[in-house]
Amino acid sequence: MSNNVSRRQFAKIAGLSAAGIAGPLDAEAKPTSTQRSASNFPPGFLWGTATSSYQVEGAVNEDGRGVSIWDNFVRIPGKIEDGSSGERANEHYHRYKDDIARIKELGCKAYRFSVAWPRVFPDGDGKSNPKGLDFYNRLVDELLKNGIEPWLTLYHWDLPQSLQDRFGGWRSTETCKIFGDYAAYVAKHLTDRVRNVFTLNESGRFVYFGYGIGIDAPGLTLPQAEVNQVRHNSALAHGLAVQAVRAHGRRGTRVGPAENIDACIPAIDTPEHVRAAAIALREMNAGYLNVIMEGRYTDAFLKFAGADAPKYTDAELKIISSPVDFLGLNIYAPQHYIVPSDQGAGFAPLPIPKSFPHMNSDWLRVGPETIYWVPKLAAKIWKTDAIYISENGASGADQVTPDGKIYDTDRIMYLRNYLAQLQRATAEGVPVRGYFLWSLMDNFEWVYGLNKRFGLYHVNFDTQVRTPKLSADFYRNVIANNAAGA
Ligand code: NOJ
Repeated sequence: MSNNVSRRQFAKIAGLSAAGIAGPLDAEAKPTSTQRSASNFPPGFLWGTATSSYQVEGAVNEDGRGVSIWDNFVRIPGKIEDGSSGERANEHYHRYKDDIARIKELGCKAYRFSVAWPRVFPDGDGKSNPKGLDFYNRLVDELLKNGIEPWLTLYHWDLPQSLQDRFGGWRSTETCKIFGDYAAYVAKHLTDRVRNVFTLNESGRFVYFGYGIGIDAPGLTLPQAEVNQVRHNSALAHGLAVQAVRAHGRRGTRVGPAENIDACIPAIDTPEHVRAAAIALREMNAGYLNVIMEGRYTDAFLKFAGADAPKYTDAELKIISSPVDFLGLNIYAPQHYIVPSDQGAGFAPLPIPKSFPHMNSDWLRVGPETIYWVPKLAAKIWKTDAIYISENGASGADQVTPDGKIYDTDRIMYLRNYLAQLQRATAEGVPVRGYFLWSLMDNFEWVYGLNKRFGLYHVNFDTQVRTPKLSADFYRNVIANNAAGA
């Protein structure tokens, strides 16, 4: 309402009785308990937030940390949009206590972070670096002290450079085996306090972007057959990590992937479209998630790959499909709107219109129904009873206004709509047990540098001052009410 028009005047203009206006409007603002429970998430739903090591820690040369492929990659001119790097990032390595206080402020019950492999094993294998591990000991202890459950990711892309140099990184199964040993070490030392472990973050991104089109570290542009082999190796590394956590972690430690599932959605909600979308979801994820969950590559995948199909043994498929405790899904943009087809496997993705709305990253199309359909179809296809949204969130321009605040109503719009669709899923019994909002604070967004802001907290990267955006209030409210706040 404009500042020039009082509530009373507005009521008059709108033809409402001045006495009546306060009543109905206020009643709307505070839903009755019945309304509220209808839009609630299940009791015990886990609300969290997420970051990753290279994106927030900084301190790349401290306490014996080894070099990662990202340390070198960011130095190649032209690779990072704004020429920045994660060298300093959010200085989370030193400011973690304050950052944990912010997680607590939000009311989050869980925090997803990643361990920087080169901190723990500077060369990837060989001699461990106790000082590196100690950081994670301190981090985990501080989280627990504040009543926040640590959810640990073993690999969020910062591969030790030494493994790249010696073995070609994920091109070699040597790296997979060494990853298994590293996973065993982390499990042994941290799962006395960490109960949940994600293996690799977003194979779907780092394989193709890092080894196929050279956009991410290590910046390679390999032929398709080799990219397929790298993807297979990443699945193998996942399986070896699952086995390592089982063998060396505390009994009951839970483990699963955190994958940017290729998101397929029925173009419209008819039984035919839904069926086609389910087939598409399985096939479009045949190279990673499906082989993990089913222990085999689909016929359509092998036929399509032809001579470029990965080489593998049955023993590897067994390792890859080691049973997991949950499915972690990073869900952002709708990738494919699917219609039925009488060609091929029975589905066809529609072209995405140029005018499709997106957030402050071109790739981040706004399709709230993605977070309804994808978990729903995934639960059905892979018969899982525990899905976690390991990431969801949005980039915004996030201008600081003259009053020092950031009114990111665009991010709130995005979150509100996605969470309403997630709640729709849980209300139907889709087994989504928790949600990690990406991200706690603005951070180093890989090739986009510090330009693309995803945080609930704004970060001034010169002063390291963190300022809560309006979306931080929004999320706090969501958590407090256990409701989407649509
Ligand atoms: C996926 C990645 O896991 C994370 O590192 C990245 O910052 C967000 N999505 C946003 O792009």
